Amino acid sequence: MLTVIGYPNYWLAKVIASKLKAIEIDVYDKVFPDGELYVRLANPERVALNKVVIVSTFYPEQEKRILKTMLLIDAAKNNNPSKLIALIPYLAYSRQDKVFLPGEPVSACLIMKLLKNAGVDVLLTVDVHSSRVLECFNGLSVNVMISDLLVKHALRYLNNPVVIAPDKGALERASLPAKTHGLDYDYLEKHRDRVTGEVSYSPREINVRGKDIIIVDDIISTGGTIAESSRMLLKKGANRVIVAASHGLLVGEAIKKLESAGVLKVILADTLGLRHEHKLIEYVDITDKLIEELNKVIA
Ligand code: R5P
Repeated sequence: MLTVIGYPNYWLAKVIASKLKAIEIDVYDKVFPDGELYVRLANPERVALNKVVIVSTFYPEQEKRILKTMLLIDAAKNNNPSKLIALIPYLAYSRQDKVFLPGEPVSACLIMKLLKNAGVDVLLTVDVHSSRVLECFNGLSVNVMISDLLVKHALRYLNNPVVIAPDKGALERASLPAKTHGLDYDYLEKHRDRVTGEVSYSPREINVRGKDIIIVDDIISTGGTIAESSRMLLKKGANRVIVAASHGLLVGEAIKKLESAGVLKVILADTLGLRHEHKLIEYVDITDKLIEELNKVIA
């Protein structure tokens, strides 16, 4: 028997429960007068000896979502599931994956340890910033790569594009769909000021003259990375630029920034607890891919 517990009002939980023909347990939640969070499973008896999938995502309101998800995991664990799987498409804090400046924590690793210690047996996520941090989970984890689906969608608009990673760390994310779709790929040399967060690019020999481009990245937050790289590629003579990213946080003026940097379209996966409505943005449905991966770990 399979039971799904969704983060309150997270649409993905309903879709997963219906596609897997699982029971979805309702969650009652409230905030105490002093601001503390409370959750309660409506039918805890449906957890005992069942495989349970907790479906959540860590954006927006990262801290609240992280804590509430931990409470849900604990509530489920207290009722003896046979296996506890967490499906969390977006893992917040994943970019602090090492100590960049002395005195910093490794936040990404801490989140992994919290999930494991709360009782998660298997973790499924989507295109985590650096798959290395999954080692901190110290258990079975699956990082579902979807850049091939995003690039497939972008190909509707472009002619034999070059797939570009905005930094060397994202090269695998770009090479994977490029190989799948028989496209050329390359990367840019990005630098980020660790104190101001400002992004700049070093000159690097890269031939994009007259070519269409798909920039592939994991996260678009302020849009600074993509805006800078798009501008640079267009300046080098690129024809059209489309962006394919897994997690479109798009904070503040990000969409405007991308538009004014000449980005034609922003193709995103629907991994967050919010959607942006704008003519530039298109979402790709990745639920079938998630179901495929979930079925493997459930079996
Ligand atoms: C960083 O290495 C990530 O892969 C993204 O490139 C970055 O988080 C994007 O952030 P922003 O949109 O603020 O430049």
